[in-house]
This record gives sequence, C-alpha cells and structure tokens, in this order.
Amino acid sequence: MEDPILKTVNVTKIYNQGKQNEVVPVRNASLTVEEGTAVVLQGPSGSGKTTLLSMIGCQIKPTYGEIVVKGKQVSKLPEKFANLHKREHIGFVFQQFHLISDLSVLDNIILPLLPSGIPPGERKCRAEELLEEFELMPRKQFKVKDLSGGEQQRVAICRSLINGCSLLLADEPTAHLDGQLTIEFLKYMTHLKEKGYTILIASHDPAVFKNGMVDRIIEMNSGEIVS
Ligand SMILES: Nc1ncnc2c1ncn2[C@@H]1O[C@H](COP(=O)(O)OP(=O)(O)OP(=O)(O)O)[C@@H](O)[C@H]1O
Ligand SMILES: [Mg+2]
Repeated sequence: MEDPILKTVNVTKIYNQGKQNEVVPVRNASLTVEEGTAVVLQGPSGSGKTTLLSMIGCQIKPTYGEIVVKGKQVSKLPEKFANLHKREHIGFVFQQFHLISDLSVLDNIILPLLPSGIPPGERKCRAEELLEEFELMPRKQFKVKDLSGGEQQRVAICRSLINGCSLLLADEPTAHLDGQLTIEFLKYMTHLKEKGYTILIASHDPAVFKNGMVDRIIEMNSGEIVS
C-alpha cells in the first residue's frame, strides 16, 4: 500500500509549558490520512481541532511528536524549509478567509505565487483556470470586499490551490455559510476530491461530516483523538 499523504505520531501542543497557565490543546494525537480521501476532524468547541490543523498546516510547531506530510517530517524541518514544503504541498482555507479586501479577486489568488519566481503570465494563467473552475470569472476584477460571503470563500479556496498543492486543509469552512452555500461548498469539495485532492476539514457542522463525500471522521475531545 502507498504511504499515507499525512501522518501524525503522538503530536502534543503545550502552551505556557510548566507555568500556572499551562494549556495542552492537543495531546498525543496520532492519525493517518490516505491520499485522495476526505476526512473530517470533528469535536466540540475547544477540543483542539484548529490547533491540530494548524500544526499539520505548518502554521505552528508541535511541542512533541512527529508530523509527516508527503514523506517529509515537517515538524522537524527548520522554519524556512517547512515553509517551502508547505508552499508546495499544502493549501489552507481559514475560517475568516484572510483575504485582502481592497485587492481584486485575481490579485488575491496570485498572492501566494509572488515569492516563487513564477513569471506573471504563468501566474495569471493558473489563476484563470481556477477562476473558471470555481465560477468566478465574471468577478475577476472585483475587489474582494464587493463579493458575497460564498464568493469570498471560493476566492480563498482558489488562493489555497494556486500553489499546485495536493493536500487541502479547511478550518470550519461552513461556519459563516447558510444551508444553500454549505451545499455549494460541499459540491466544490466533492469536485476536488474527484480530481484526486486529499481533504482534511475541521468542523462540527453535521452537514459537513454527514456528507457523502466524507470517507472518515476523526473525533476529538479535550485535545485527544477518541475515535
Ligand atoms: N495560543 C494559545 N495559547 C493558549 N491557549 C490556546 C492557544 N491557542 C488555543 N488555545 C486553547 O486550546 C484549546 C483548543 O483550542 P482550538 O482552537 O484548537 O479548539 P477548536 O476545537 O478548534 O474549537 P472551536 O470548535 O471553537 O474552533 C482552547 O481551550 C484554547 O483556548
Ligand atoms: Mg477551531
């Protein structure tokens, strides 16, 4: 069998270690995600979903444990190399989208490519492919602040995919969406999965974890993986 695209082994995060206000949002979390599958991290508020997802996405480092993405131990890499690996393989959709509201849709999407040395023509080409795919072409020159919530999220998804990644992480992607937009979001995720992407979503929304595209649910409680 092929190696999983993602593996965590006994990952623990401790804030303020040894101090009175010590917090352990994630404790001994071990999981594997196979390439091409869609997995949901589920659990009540405060159970550690965002913290675990942020460690997998190389936004924060674990205090203990190993994280392997695409065969590389990202948790052990110096920051510069972890960033390079992240840029190449991981797409991240944040709960608050983190778009630049005064920039155009196109400029937001190509932003992650700016440090990469990819020529402007190629950047635009890649962005336009995604704009087509996510039905945003008519909004290409709009400022992000003039878009609806659903459209903003699609821009955030395009931006996360433009690096050519194969692992997509999303934190509570439906928290700000109504029922119809949630269905639409899941339709796009199904499409990405069919294209071979691996998808890991942190969510406590039943519409997400009960959706047919989800292959597996990993349940967290008080920082631990319980099933
Ligand atoms: N930087 C930090 N310093 C101290 N404690 C933190 C920090 N980040 C998160 N925590 C704590 O870790 C716990 C887990 O938080 P986390 O955001 O991972 O939970 P979550 O499962 O994503 O919750 P939600 O469903 O509300 O998004 C919380 O109690 C939180 O207060
Ligand atoms: Mg969270």
